[in-house]
Amino acid sequence: MNIIKLDATDSTNAYLKRLLSDGLGADFTVITAKKQLKGKGQMGAKWESDSGKNLTFSVLRQDLGLSVTDYFVLNICVSLAVYKTLKAHQVPDLSIKWPNDILSGTSKICGILIENILSGNLINTAIIGIGLNVNQTFFGELENASSLKLILGSNFDLDELLHEVVENLKSIFLESNTNSIENLWKAYEEVLFRKDKPSTFENKQNELFMGFIRGVSPTGRLQITLEDNVLKEFDIKEVKLLY
Ligand code: BTN
Repeated sequence: MNIIKLDATDSTNAYLKRLLSDGLGADFTVITAKKQLKGKGQMGAKWESDSGKNLTFSVLRQDLGLSVTDYFVLNICVSLAVYKTLKAHQVPDLSIKWPNDILSGTSKICGILIENILSGNLINTAIIGIGLNVNQTFFGELENASSLKLILGSNFDLDELLHEVVENLKSIFLESNTNSIENLWKAYEEVLFRKDKPSTFENKQNELFMGFIRGVSPTGRLQITLEDNVLKEFDIKEVKLLY
């Protein structure tokens, strides 16, 4: 594995971006850091993680040649790879909360931030950032956060777990090249958090509404049937699923 292990950096995603701008970075290069001083989360949030206790790493994908409209394929491959890794460790009640949080019950144990680099209408390069809560046991104010140790009761070897995730990533990306993506899409939708269950959502205007998650559109929008049974699609800025 082509891996760079750091004690500290601002963000492993940002570190990979700098490698790229220096003309470096082979496919599946992995950057992992014990501590991130400016860990990035989704939608401009911060990603906080106790130093040395968890996995905070980024994986570079090159030569993807993926149309921008198909960007969600990347979310599917990455979240399924993490899901599969955790399933093998018997993490109970696993699901993927759209678009790509990995939950055990209602607790988030992994967050994913994928940053795409475009050339025209193509995504050729993707920086896949993964924050997996492993041996941390105190999350302070963070509601709904948990770790493998809190859930399974034992410490995990971070290097081994990192290898497992990266190997699963490689095999799922290979599968996405050789098979039709439909199977992976189906596998993703099957394990969606609160799929087909009556759920409460919040829209952009902070209004609550009820609906049922049915799946994800080819362009990555969450498909929800509302009370009148009409299917509507929402993007990440338009809807929030309340726990
Ligand atoms: C989320 O908000 O759920 C996404 C969190 C992604 C965090 C990871 S940690 C490694 C990589 N580097 C970052 O700065 N962010 C991602």
